[in-house]
Amino acid sequence: MSELDPFSIKRVILLEYQKPIFKRIYNTINWLFSNSYENLPFKGFLLYGPPGTGKSEIVKQVGKKIADAYSDVKIHYVDGADIASPKWGEAEKKLEDVFNVSERERRVIIFDDIESLMMSRGANIAKEWHYSINSVLFHKLDFLDPSKCIVLATTNRIDLVDEALKSRFYLIEIPRVPKEELFALLDKTLASVSLPTPVKEKISSNIREKIRKDKIRDLRQVLYEVAIQVFNYISEEELI
Ligand SMILES: Nc1ncnc2c1ncn2[C@@H]1O[C@H](COP(=O)(O)OP(=O)(O)OP(=O)(O)O)[C@@H](O)[C@H]1O
Ligand SMILES: [Mg+2]
Repeated sequence: MSELDPFSIKRVILLEYQKPIFKRIYNTINWLFSNSYENLPFKGFLLYGPPGTGKSEIVKQVGKKIADAYSDVKIHYVDGADIASPKWGEAEKKLEDVFNVSERERRVIIFDDIESLMMSRGANIAKEWHYSINSVLFHKLDFLDPSKCIVLATTNRIDLVDEALKSRFYLIEIPRVPKEELFALLDKTLASVSLPTPVKEKISSNIREKIRKDKIRDLRQVLYEVAIQVFNYISEEELI
């Protein structure tokens, strides 16, 4: 668990399919942070969908924009490994601290890959540890005031997320990224690297082919493939 300096989150230009999702979350939090709403039935957003579809990036960008807009808002970034502790009770304590917001502060809490923290009660791998963590989380969420503190969670394993947890969030499904958006990320990424134009064109056509043939299906794979092809080119260049 750590406080995330909004300056450390690099601003990215959102892809077209990400914009309405970003807007929906940002506008809602913005409204909640400027108004009051008693008994709001949800405590934040849970973005779910296949790996590499931009879930974590979207919530980080929302957190950044909210923290930029409100000087009293801090971002807390949590992943399962941050909380896990072999000492009895320590993980629960760490989790409670995430929700301990002082009078002078407001908070956006990002639970990235929340399934690593919360196992569904039915999952085989669920252990006593998870029950205990679940109960702390439910308790804390139920007392959360969304005009002061909001949770943004992500998962690519919605099947492992407890039903009771899901019911406390506004669920947003992030589907597979359309091919045009993969092309757009490819173009954007290649535009940012300095390489001779014919090399870029070659790399671009190689990767476009892989996207067309479904060999590359998500954003991370696009970025990975660009990096590999750029490194391949650089490593084969003649030494001068
Ligand atoms: N608009 C964008 N511009 C540039 N890069 C982006 C953009 N959106 C996402 N990315 C990058 O694409 C990669 C995959 O995105 P991200 O990590 O958010 O996916 P994810 O859905 O959270 O995946 P996982 O389910 O595996 O956690 C990351 O490196 C992220 O920084
Ligand atoms: Mg992620």
